Amino acid sequence: MSDLYTDLADVYDVVFDWDVESEADWLVERLGAGCRRVLEPGCGPGRMFEPLARRGVEVTGIDNSPAMVELARTRGRAELADMTDFDLGVFDGAICPINTLGHLSRGQLTAHLVAMSHALPSGARYLVQLGIGAELGRASRWDAERDGMHVRATWTVESRDAAAATELHHSKFEVLSGPRAGRTYEQVHRMTYWTSVTWAARIADSAFEWAAVYDGAAPGRPQLAFDATGGLLWHELVRR
Ligand SMILES: C[S@@+](CC[C@H](N)C(=O)[O-])C[C@H]1O[C@@H](n2cnc3c(N)ncnc32)[C@H](O)[C@@H]1O
Repeated sequence: MSDLYTDLADVYDVVFDWDVESEADWLVERLGAGCRRVLEPGCGPGRMFEPLARRGVEVTGIDNSPAMVELARTRGRAELADMTDFDLGVFDGAICPINTLGHLSRGQLTAHLVAMSHALPSGARYLVQLGIGAELGRASRWDAERDGMHVRATWTVESRDAAAATELHHSKFEVLSGPRAGRTYEQVHRMTYWTSVTWAARIADSAFEWAAVYDGAAPGRPQLAFDATGGLLWHELVRR
């Protein structure tokens, strides 16, 4: 089976090449006026690097996939590192889009937040996009096309085991044109299942305060109650 983040980094790069202009505006606003150097753990192919650079914010990414780091280096600064154990100095703020932290177990999240606490000064913001209680069985479908590659993508949160705190996400990518035309890639991703209660407890035990939740799927990304559910919630963490 091909792994999305290693063998299929080129497919990921096309499939998730979404228009992030309004998201970049919003991130820069939330990070604050003095924020110029940002860390992105799990940066993938660095799709946020250029939109943020155009707004005067330099991103340094880290990823544990060599293929992703190679792609990210075509767009900016990236290092091969594990987000649970790294030291790249101190930044003004940090971002972590589209459920990347869901790949970490609860224990790994604790280690990640310790590493992040060394990378950010008091008052700095860490903006994390993480689904909490996303609707089960509802497939997100979209088509993506770039550089001659056309991909039909489907992503579904298929099942959830509350006792084990895990959920299974199913990705399916049908390549309709380009070098991989005719191939279909499917993968089940074992993710950590967070509720607003377990997430709040984990953050309370860290060097960060959970300051706000925003709806990443709604225009303007309005602020929500802390017990909100959804697949694209943005969480504002502030270094104590
Ligand atoms: C959902 S992708 C997000 C990529 C990018 N942030 C974006 O917005 O497109 C998750 C990324 O996290 C990386 N990743 C997963 N576990 C990691 C870890 N323990 N340390 C570093 N990177 C990791 C994967 O290789 C993948 O590139």
